[in-house]
Amino acid sequence: MDIQTIRQNTPGVTHVVHFNSAGASLVSQQVLAAQIDYLKEEAQYGGYETASKYESRLEEFYSEAAKLIHASPEEIAFTESATVAWQRAFFSIPMEKGDTILTTKAEYASNFISYLYQKEKQGINIKVVPSDGSGEIDLKKLEESIDESVKLISITHLPTNSGLVNPAEKVGELARKYNILYLLDACQSIGQYPIDVHKIGCHFLSATGRKYLRGPRGTGFLYANKEILKSCIPSNLDLHSANWIKDNIYEKRTDARIFETWESNVAAKMGLTQALKEVNILGIDNIWKRVVELSRYLRSELEKIETVAIKDIGSIQSGIVTFTSSMKASQLQEALNAKGFNTIVSPKNSTLLDMSDRNLEEVVRASVHYYNTEQEVDDLTAALRQIL
Ligand SMILES: Cc1ncc(COP(=O)(O)O)c(C=O)c1O
Repeated sequence: MDIQTIRQNTPGVTHVVHFNSAGASLVSQQVLAAQIDYLKEEAQYGGYETASKYESRLEEFYSEAAKLIHASPEEIAFTESATVAWQRAFFSIPMEKGDTILTTKAEYASNFISYLYQKEKQGINIKVVPSDGSGEIDLKKLEESIDESVKLISITHLPTNSGLVNPAEKVGELARKYNILYLLDACQSIGQYPIDVHKIGCHFLSATGRKYLRGPRGTGFLYANKEILKSCIPSNLDLHSANWIKDNIYEKRTDARIFETWESNVAAKMGLTQALKEVNILGIDNIWKRVVELSRYLRSELEKIETVAIKDIGSIQSGIVTFTSSMKASQLQEALNAKGFNTIVSPKNSTLLDMSDRNLEEVVRASVHYYNTEQEVDDLTAALRQIL
């Protein structure tokens, strides 16, 4: 990977030391230009006319997203966030009183709130599968939890608050064995970790644009596999997801765009398409290798600071590095920010079950991406030493 060229093409690196790609990455010059150029054309020639002109370029969004996760373009829907993608999938799954959802300890707040909402509305059960010694979902306990009532296995791949990588493929093997629907929140894994939906065997996968994909804010996508598309019932339809053919008759789309609505932020979609192209050109395996190397280096340097305690779990660890220190997390994050280092605080209620289990109120999250450098890691740890 030519890090120097990548950094030359990333305007943000001259302004900040950015360890917040798990929040929102720095975009490349080309991702920025794809949006600005498109917006200019919209302003000059009209929104619909510009969309028509770029129709084939916009189609590339589907093929690039599909390529990255080994899916087909027909299995991809564009959304405005990972949450919207996830909710469209989740609320399309018919649930009845007594049905059970199996999930993990490290589940993301928005997902768990939706489980609670369905529990309140439909009387479903939520079963949280315990973690094993490493912090990953315990596969033995997952299998033991499966009974006739289980309608859905819904897990977060890489949680927001630690370096954990949940064993998505092994979970998929169990989902397949017992013929259970499987929804994977890949919001933090997309763009940093290799994903093959066939190997994972999930029916749905939700992803965001602005984090490790380095796309614009307000973008995301949903993968819905061909099998589920034959029978799924989205919670909403419009004139894009369905066709009104006679007074009392409409026909639903048969591809994943059944989960889209007609209107969308087309300039942002252009930006995300460019970001996906860049990931596919760089190669997700190369990206993951670099992210692992840099995050290992950051953890090893943090370990040397006596007043810092690393809080990452899992047998394989991602680019999400979390820690506590002798200082309150929010104060430390602010002090780092004042020195030009972007990190973020992950609060307890983003992943309430895991944080409560581990007696954590909040952690500082310093997430690394391939465009960070060893020098930036050294600068960050030097700044931490100085502040602490
Ligand atoms: C694990 C996980 N899932 C879902 C989301 C929500 O993503 P979005 O804000 O794009 O809806 C986040 C955001 O941080 C996340 O970390």
